[in-house]
Amino acid sequence: MKLGQFELSDGMARLGTESAFEVLARAKELERQGHEVINLGIGQPDFQTPGHIVEAAKKALDDGHHGYTPGNGILPLREAVAADIAVNRGATVDPDNIVIVPGGKVTMWYAILMFGGPGTEIMYPNPGFPIYESVIAFSGAKPVPIPLLEKNAFAFDADEVLAQITPATRLIIVNSPANPTGGVVPRAEFDKLAAGLEKHPHVTILSDEIYSRLTYDNAEFVTMLDYEHLRDRLIILDGWSKTYAMTGWRIGYGVWPAPLVDLVTRLNINSVSCTNAATQFASIAALERPQHSVAMMREAFDGRRKLIVDLTNGIPGMSSILPTGAFYTMPNIAGTGVKAKAMETLLLEELHIAAIAGTSFGAYGEGYIRFSYANSTENIEKALGRMRDYAESAGWAKAA
Ligand SMILES: Cc1ncc(COP(=O)(O)O)c(C=O)c1O
Repeated sequence: MKLGQFELSDGMARLGTESAFEVLARAKELERQGHEVINLGIGQPDFQTPGHIVEAAKKALDDGHHGYTPGNGILPLREAVAADIAVNRGATVDPDNIVIVPGGKVTMWYAILMFGGPGTEIMYPNPGFPIYESVIAFSGAKPVPIPLLEKNAFAFDADEVLAQITPATRLIIVNSPANPTGGVVPRAEFDKLAAGLEKHPHVTILSDEIYSRLTYDNAEFVTMLDYEHLRDRLIILDGWSKTYAMTGWRIGYGVWPAPLVDLVTRLNINSVSCTNAATQFASIAALERPQHSVAMMREAFDGRRKLIVDLTNGIPGMSSILPTGAFYTMPNIAGTGVKAKAMETLLLEELHIAAIAGTSFGAYGEGYIRFSYANSTENIEKALGRMRDYAESAGWAKAA
């Protein structure tokens, strides 16, 4: 790829991005111009990191933890993660299979680079977290979408996934609870996928379980660790960002099959060396201390979830199912006659509401917009009120 005088690698032309960061930057600019922007865009809790976690980081610095740490993370943290997995997922995992990385995203970057490349195929949810498709394409692999449809409450259809497997398929990415839809895949669908994968031993699975602690209405979170027969080709992605309001601390972990642990540690050492030392000590405190802050945040999100869905369904031209996971809704905007990207621009520039076009999460996101309800009830009411007023004056139709 050529860029001015620069001769770049071809992959650079295929690298996408996460447009939530661009919308956030534009929202900040509008705020600087004096507009009151309500942010339903970026996917991060609006809570502060619980105080005891912050204190643990300060203590780590006071205790002199200022140096490099092992490339796979400090042992006490890997042990704490294994203990947490035992409690919250009922699964036994060896701390040596856990690799600590600077952010949940890093596990997906490494996994996709490890398996992708020209001539290979990687399946990913669409609409889904945009970095999957971006990095798959960057690696030279063919991105093969797993369509997530509103009529299935945005869960994958296991038969459809299995039917798309070819000899070139190297990796299948699943994500439940999901960004951007809030969808939670039922156990029956996971069971079917896991059973079907027995016939395809050449395929590895990356299960992005970063929203594991955020489910509502008794929706069941299913970890793929439940499927013992897949354990030797299963990568689990999780982290602290969403569960403990720690997006800016940059830490996450992967559970890897034993033969891949050295390779993923090498990827870490070749790029970032290791994860911030104080952050790792803070993350031990997050896992080991009482979890009431997690429950408190979940409860607040639950109330906002119902509120935003109710208010969305009062807007002519929009309709929203009630998702049971994460902190997103994905309303159908087909009834407004406005396309997804145009709706994102309209909401931001005219109504000063940051929200993300469904198409930012893949082609199957056309006709949808993503709201993050990690914002106060007052702001949700204000934002949706602005939309309703606009919809009524613009004459958007009521969705059928
Ligand atoms: C599905 C999914 N996976 C992974 C991540 C990455 O999380 P982190 O901020 O820890 O890198 C996100 C963040 O939005 C996400 O939505």
